[in-house]
Amino acid sequence: MIKIAPSLLSADFTRLRDEIDSVATADYLHFDVMDGVFVPNISIGLPVLEAVRAVTEMPIDVHLMITQPSRYAARFAECGADIVTFHVEADSAENIARAIAGVHSAGKRAGLALKPATEADAVLPYIGLLDMIVVMTVEPGFGGQKFMSGQMPKLIALRGMLDEKNPLCEIEIDGGVNPDTARLCIENGANVLVAGSDVFRADDRAARIEAIKRAG
Ligand code: DX5
Ligand code: ZN
Repeated sequence: MIKIAPSLLSADFTRLRDEIDSVATADYLHFDVMDGVFVPNISIGLPVLEAVRAVTEMPIDVHLMITQPSRYAARFAECGADIVTFHVEADSAENIARAIAGVHSAGKRAGLALKPATEADAVLPYIGLLDMIVVMTVEPGFGGQKFMSGQMPKLIALRGMLDEKNPLCEIEIDGGVNPDTARLCIENGANVLVAGSDVFRADDRAARIEAIKRAG
């Protein structure tokens, strides 16, 4: 099943509750956390997650773009995230393993995200532990960037690795998704598509979510 995860980063923050309601037909709500160190932008964090958790039943998919995510991953799990993903480049191997265990101890799903320059093999040490892998198809930090189709060989490699070692693990694509690029991602083995600007720009967001979902 193909799942769509609208990214709250492209929502109107002055009307967050209405914005969340407008995408309620989607499968996950994608929640981008940026620290101004791992990426050159600062977004939203724990207090906003708690507020969002209080007004929606949607599964919340938190994407931590922060340095040393082992410091905070379990806190996000405890504050209402259903899935917590963080970057494999952002911490030591020991701490990445500890962060995955911390999220699982909170009863939530854990995932690893890969920047465009990071090879598929980077997830291998953790592959059996993961519930999600996020393939970035833009440089993390901002919404509204152009989709990097050069990431497709990595997606295909990850699909092959997961089919063999962890078939239940989801593969999420993050960055530049629209109905056209979604088709390519689905063909190459992704099953969760983050879409920020493409969904929130649309007048009929439910229709746009459906259009992306049906693209494959
Ligand atoms: C970028 C974020 C994305 C972003 C996607 O660093 O991780 O989730 O919101 O936005 P679009 O869909 O506009 O590329
Ligand atoms: Zn994201």
